[in-house]
Amino acid sequence: MNCRLSITLGLLATMLLGACDWMPGKPVKEDETPVPADVHSFNVLYRDTCSGCHGADGQFGGARPLNDPLYLSLASDEYMLGVMTDGVPHTLMPPFAISKGGSLTNSQLRDILQGIRRSWGPMPDTPGVTPPSLSSATKGEASRGRTLFASHCAACHGDDGRGGKVAGNVIDPSYLALVSDQSLRSNIICGRHDLGMPDWNGAINGVVAEQRKGLAPLNDKDVSDLVAFLASHRVEFPGAPFPSLENPRDTD
Ligand code: HEC
Ligand code: HEC
Repeated sequence: MNCRLSITLGLLATMLLGACDWMPGKPVKEDETPVPADVHSFNVLYRDTCSGCHGADGQFGGARPLNDPLYLSLASDEYMLGVMTDGVPHTLMPPFAISKGGSLTNSQLRDILQGIRRSWGPMPDTPGVTPPSLSSATKGEASRGRTLFASHCAACHGDDGRGGKVAGNVIDPSYLALVSDQSLRSNIICGRHDLGMPDWNGAINGVVAEQRKGLAPLNDKDVSDLVAFLASHRVEFPGAPFPSLENPRDTD
């Protein structure tokens, strides 16, 4: 191989390797350095480390909105700091604490949490209205969840959950492989007010959705049952191109 060609290939490889270092949502600054430890501005920290997934201004991202007063009134500081510190295993939520391989100091993590609360929440208490708790130890029953899905969700997500006129497939094994049960629970309780998914009470930004009119609000057990129903569609090898879940090497 002539010298110029090998230099060109070397350069190309370096560029490709450089490019592969990038992943969607991975926090990058223009100069590609992690946020320095002396940065304490919420706007800068949020923009550089969270907005890629949770959306600019905390909504319309791939991951759930943090600009959500209902969510912020249900999620404790301890819970949110825990998620930010450790990430959520087997999902796209990365750990941010330096001790866990992330790039933020504990004081920066607290700055972000305080900034989220100051900018976006929480909702004022409404007397007599008690949403289900964000986390729950209640074991869900998938069969009861199926019945609730038919009454409370099918009008938008389709009878079997594979998607309808208004909203998409929520039993897709590839989707379910990327999200935790807690994330399903958070979204069923708080909805996705940015995308048009109603909360536990059937409302989107305070207005009850047509499809949930006249239906009872969801309680703690209902939410666990719905999560169990959705989660029952998880498969061992999501997205695997094999026609069955048998070991593909057993075919001959
Ligand atoms: C690479 C994408 C990505 C980045 C960057 C990211 N998140 Fe997340 N985050 C996620 C995903 C995906 C989930 C849902 C994980 C699951 O399935 O439980 C999540 C979950 C969360 C939750 C818990 C939501 C719940 O259901 O209770 C909080 C709180 C959170 N993220 C805060 C943050 C903050 C603050 C930052 C910035 C410091 C951040 N995230 C950066 C993807 C990301
Ligand atoms: C008024 C219509 C409507 C109803 C009723 C509804 N949803 Fe949704 N849902 C949406 C929309 C819109 C989205 C946004 C994504 C999309 O378009 O599929 C969504 C998203 C979701 C997501 C994905 C959230 C994420 O970001 O990962 C889940 C899970 C979900 N819905 C479950 C349910 C369940 C369970 C019920 C019944 C309790 C329900 N939905 C009822 C409209 C609805």
